[in-house]
Amino acid sequence: MLKRRHNDGKVVTITVDGETVEARAGESVAAAVLAHTEGATRTTPVSGAPRAPYCMMGVCFECLMEIDGQPNRQGCMVRVTDGMSVRRQQGARDMETSS
Ligand code: FES
Repeated sequence: MLKRRHNDGKVVTITVDGETVEARAGESVAAAVLAHTEGATRTTPVSGAPRAPYCMMGVCFECLMEIDGQPNRQGCMVRVTDGMSVRRQQGARDMETSS
């Protein structure tokens, strides 16, 4: 689990896998989840190996999570908001198709 170096900002409440946790307003979902978990934020669709955010800037896609019911969101590119629901993603998720 990572520790924040500063904790002087406004606090919002989110849920991570159903557990209520506090996050700092303005931080990314990936940062908030890393601060409250043992590290893995998803598992791979093929082998089920645990993965965790790596680049924190939208490049590696290792931070895919379900955010407010929408799967495959990049947690590092979404800011937490009060009442947000986050689920760590296990394996593949369905993609919506329009056909
Ligand atoms: S941590 Fe790399 S895209 Fe989010």
